Amino acid sequence: MMLERARQRLRSAQRVVVMTGAGISAESGIPTFRAAQTGHWARFRPEDLASPDAYRRDPETVWAWYAGRCRGVQAAQPNPGHLAMAELERRQGKGFLLVTQNVDGLHQRAGSRRPAELHGNLTRARCESCGLKQPLNAQEPFTPPSCPHCGTVMRPDVVWFGERLPPLALAQAEAAFSSAHIALVIGTSSLVEPAASLALLTLDTGGTVIEINPEPTPLTPLATFSLPMSASRALPALLEGWS
Ligand code: APR
Repeated sequence: MMLERARQRLRSAQRVVVMTGAGISAESGIPTFRAAQTGHWARFRPEDLASPDAYRRDPETVWAWYAGRCRGVQAAQPNPGHLAMAELERRQGKGFLLVTQNVDGLHQRAGSRRPAELHGNLTRARCESCGLKQPLNAQEPFTPPSCPHCGTVMRPDVVWFGERLPPLALAQAEAAFSSAHIALVIGTSSLVEPAASLALLTLDTGGTVIEINPEPTPLTPLATFSLPMSASRALPALLEGWS
């Protein structure tokens, strides 16, 4: 059975890298990135809000959107999928890296100690001038705060469309995927580069790719194993029977 074969491979792997997308947080009640926006925000596309131009044009609206999303993730709880990845990190020790495209901070709240956040984290605000970071204040009034250090208007600490990914996080991810024995690719549509191509680095160097997604993606035909399951069911099952 594919799950058992994937479990055996994972159990014997020394170097493991994980890539997560919005699907791992879906069962914590956080809509996936490409799910339709609801309520007041239904008339917006994320691409129309998550961009430097949108923030320059209408900082209050963009800040209000992130404040609402921040309150949403603060009210959400990590699910068994997040907890299983924190447990895998404990078992693997230094031969492990969690890379996430998610900005909800649920991996850290589940106990993952050092996730590489490719797209930032919406529970933080950042000053573009001096780089100061602080928790994002999600309460009203929805006016972007000024940096307490240099006075510049702060922004959500996320990567917007058209912006570069954090160089250190990306370099860590590329190195980990290029040397991994096993890459777990969980809950991502594998549509957005450069994240979508990282698993190919593992395949190119003879490693194993295990995809976990109820739906097929462009990675599915290339993956060594593709488990059409939810993350909260598949991940605890992959860790069963060994510690
Ligand atoms: N378990 C596992 N996978 C799931 C689950 C679940 N319970 N529910 C949904 N999925 C899968 C969907 O089938 C889909 O393939 O999660 C994936 C979510 O895809 P997207 O909504 O495209 O999210 P993601 O892949 O994380 O988007 C990547 O795109 O625009 C950028 O910055 C944005 O980080 C985001 C990136």
